[in-house]
Amino acid sequence: MKNIVVLISGSGSNLQSMIDACQCGEISGQIVAVISNKNDAYGLQRAQKAGIPAICVDSKQFADRQAYDTALLDTIERYQPDLVILAGFMRILSPEFVKHFTGKMLNIHPSLLPKYPGLHTHRRALENGDKEHGTSVHFVTEELDGGPIILQGRIPVYSTDTEDDLVERVKLQEHIIYPQVVEWFIANRLVMGDGKAFLDGKAIPITGLIAE
Ligand code: GAR
Repeated sequence: MKNIVVLISGSGSNLQSMIDACQCGEISGQIVAVISNKNDAYGLQRAQKAGIPAICVDSKQFADRQAYDTALLDTIERYQPDLVILAGFMRILSPEFVKHFTGKMLNIHPSLLPKYPGLHTHRRALENGDKEHGTSVHFVTEELDGGPIILQGRIPVYSTDTEDDLVERVKLQEHIIYPQVVEWFIANRLVMGDGKAFLDGKAIPITGLIAE
């Protein structure tokens, strides 16, 4: 069975969707460790409850990004992952770290990439009067939120929406599309090559696939 390591920083609702999908067989791999950069991340409790090793590599304990990323990489490698999943992991990773896991690291970002890389995506969608917003799963490359897009989930934006409304509506989509993409990877249907994502041997359009 393939090994999955999940990195988190916060509530871990996406992690929970992965745990549930593994338990019911929708993902045919196993989560072998959950690692947080914050010791109060609620996702660590979710992992413990599911009997998964829950580890904090606390960013406050390291002098600089390089020292942190080296410690994080060593911790991840102890679990011999086939796949590393960023699920609300709110740190920028060094190019060396990203290179090490190229082609086997996925991220979910709460916008319809390439729109709104970086932070405050929901606020920016509201400020721009967007009628549609969403979330994207992509391979991680050295460009922040810039790797090949695999699958996007779209949501409508209503005139009365607040940021919290969008957070909630986007997360509902995330909990559907992220486990789906993870299973594609675990089942060897999804690979990255030549800076592109391929599903079942076919190049995925640069805008990603759109969830039904
Ligand atoms: C998710 O909405 C995810 O897209 C976002 O953080 C949230 C984590 O929620 N990720 C990023 O903003 C990364 N740039 P969760 O802890 O409940 O899964």
